[in-house]
Amino acid sequence: GLPARVRIYEVGPRDGLQNEAAAVPVRVKAEFIRRLAGAGLTTVEATSFVHPRWVPQLADAEQLYPELAPLAASGVRLPVLVPNERGLDRALALGAREFAVFASATESFARANLNRTVAQSLAMFAPVIRTAAEAGATRVRGYVSMCFGDPWEGPVATADVVRVGVRLLELGCTELSLGDTIGVATPGQVAALLDAFGRAGVAPGRLAVHFHDTYGQALANTLTALRHGVTTVDASAGGLGGCPFARSATGNLATEDLLWMLHGLGIETGVELSALAATSRWMAGQLGRPSPSRTVRALTGD
Ligand code: HMG
Ligand code: MG
Repeated sequence: GLPARVRIYEVGPRDGLQNEAAAVPVRVKAEFIRRLAGAGLTTVEATSFVHPRWVPQLADAEQLYPELAPLAASGVRLPVLVPNERGLDRALALGAREFAVFASATESFARANLNRTVAQSLAMFAPVIRTAAEAGATRVRGYVSMCFGDPWEGPVATADVVRVGVRLLELGCTELSLGDTIGVATPGQVAALLDAFGRAGVAPGRLAVHFHDTYGQALANTLTALRHGVTTVDASAGGLGGCPFARSATGNLATEDLLWMLHGLGIETGVELSALAATSRWMAGQLGRPSPSRTVRALTGD
């Protein structure tokens, strides 16, 4: 069966904008996030407190996050990425209370993305997750990247993904997001991975899926995950995004494409598609290029 309701975890301002060549002013980012919330998105990943040299696109996190205080006060959840204690300290100082750490199922991407082995990166996250909880964070998400394929290593073993995911939960993460960072997965692989997590004792309610749409499989993969009991789906407004540390990663599943499918299936999201498409069209104008989302183009006539 399919769920009656799906929670969309919007990643456009973070996963989307981290990969845009154009410099986006803080006031445009803040307006983007306000408009996303205005369309009904209740969780919007706002930015990352990573090393500014590694991700210059998000080096303005100290300027952006305070702009969002009224939204946070109104109950919109604004998680931020923190790789280490330094990042967590920066985010806590600004009042952030919901966090995500990001691990890799493969050694190659752990090295490229975090300058660490997989084991070293998990050791780096342990005090972050603990300190976040002590500071009152009720939710700390753990991403697992390269769950299906890796640009350096090729196909990824399911056992490696489950091992890293289970470890993140043991360290105190409240939710896992399973990332197809380069968008190569097909539905049979998604089913196999979710079954493997089930066998490891991880309920689908603790899992989110995070698909990039490189090969046009993101919606088919999402539907497969919903049939396996997953009810949290990551998506990026307008299909923005990619990953600067992984060749061949293109944008995330577009939130509008996801909404078209979910609403067509009668699944509630609380998000208003027309308002969201208008926001993505506006953002595409700011970035100087059309949205790659088919639904945005169909609805806004681009
Ligand atoms: P490193 O060079 O190993 O850092 O980078 P270090 O721990 O050796 O520290 C070196 C210096 O950086 C020190 O300064 C630190 O204070 C400073 P110094 O003492 O030399 O003056 N530093 C920091 N400054 C500001 N904020 C910080 C910070 N940390 C250290 N947080 C590090 C290690 C983890 C920092 C680096 O590799 C990094 O920032 N990586 C982030 C990469 C990233 O953001 N990738 C994109 C997100 S992941 C993704 O997109 C995938 C996802 O979407 C899911 C999917 O699709 O699969 C989530
Ligand atoms: Mg991603």
